[in-house]
Amino acid sequence: MATGTRKPVALVTGGGSGIGRATAVRFAELGYSCVVADIDEQSVKETLGMLQTPGIAVQVDVTMATSVEAMVTAAVQRFGRIDCAFNGAGIEGTPARIADHQEEEYDRVMGVNAKGVWLCLKYEIAQMLQQEPVVSDPARWADKPDVCRFRGQRGSIVNDSSRSGLGPMPYSSAYCASKWAILGITETAAAEYAKDGIRVNAVCPALTATSMLSRLKEKLPADFMEKLDAMSPVGRVAAPQEVAEAVCWLCSDACPFTTGEHLKIAGGI
Ligand SMILES: NC(=O)c1ccc[n+]([C@@H]2O[C@H](COP(=O)([O-])OP(=O)(O)OC[C@H]3O[C@@H](n4cnc5c(N)ncnc54)[C@H](O)[C@@H]3O)[C@@H](O)[C@H]2O)c1
Repeated sequence: MATGTRKPVALVTGGGSGIGRATAVRFAELGYSCVVADIDEQSVKETLGMLQTPGIAVQVDVTMATSVEAMVTAAVQRFGRIDCAFNGAGIEGTPARIADHQEEEYDRVMGVNAKGVWLCLKYEIAQMLQQEPVVSDPARWADKPDVCRFRGQRGSIVNDSSRSGLGPMPYSSAYCASKWAILGITETAAAEYAKDGIRVNAVCPALTATSMLSRLKEKLPADFMEKLDAMSPVGRVAAPQEVAEAVCWLCSDACPFTTGEHLKIAGGI
């Protein structure tokens, strides 16, 4: 999203690791100033050290409204606005079939993944509504007012769902529930704020080579993981950078009419 001389601002939760870290790095390569947020203070500082553009590290617990509100306030105090947000913070939970699953574990996974995304949207959108719409490339859209309804964009948000938000994932009912919920929240928020110039989309990655996947491999039965790996027509898991690229595209003004959408990044599954 080119905005003249001003650097656009991207906020990334879960920015201390995996897909969130790769996304913050990619945003910075594209010229965005970055607000990198994570519950893990040390890892988020490490991510900040990888960025080529100005940024701040913010410790946040996405399950707590006060913490999420403080994250948004810190972003606005430092950079004045939030053009894009990637809500990537998430946990896999402890794998178990439903009859063996613990109720507290269900609440924990839903709390971070579903409520966390909902809270981030709540405060990010409240901020974006106060921002003036930015026409990032007026010359490009000048003669196409009917084609592009988002000529002034207040903000663009991408939520991290999963391939498990589109189909079953044995041993992961709470995780699946949370990722399906994210798609419902995404589509609803997109419909509620479409006319305000705020776009909300989701990505649905399949297995991606991050620390989450390493933990899953330790916890899940080996034969089950082998079957999962073998399902991908491409024959490998995704690199976090491949997910990051799609997130940055969805956030950018390259797709001004795309909202309420989910993009599968799943190697053909
Ligand atoms: N790795 C995969 O195979 C895969 C596939 C599909 C979707 N996803 C989703 O992508 C997102 C990123 O996953 P990843 O694979 O990079 O995992 P990861 O574990 O490498 O990164 C997740 C980050 O979220 C942070 N986090 C956890 N709880 C938090 C909280 N309460 N508040 C703030 N931050 C918190 C962690 O500290 C960590 O840095 C998650 O939402 C995950 O569900 C991952």
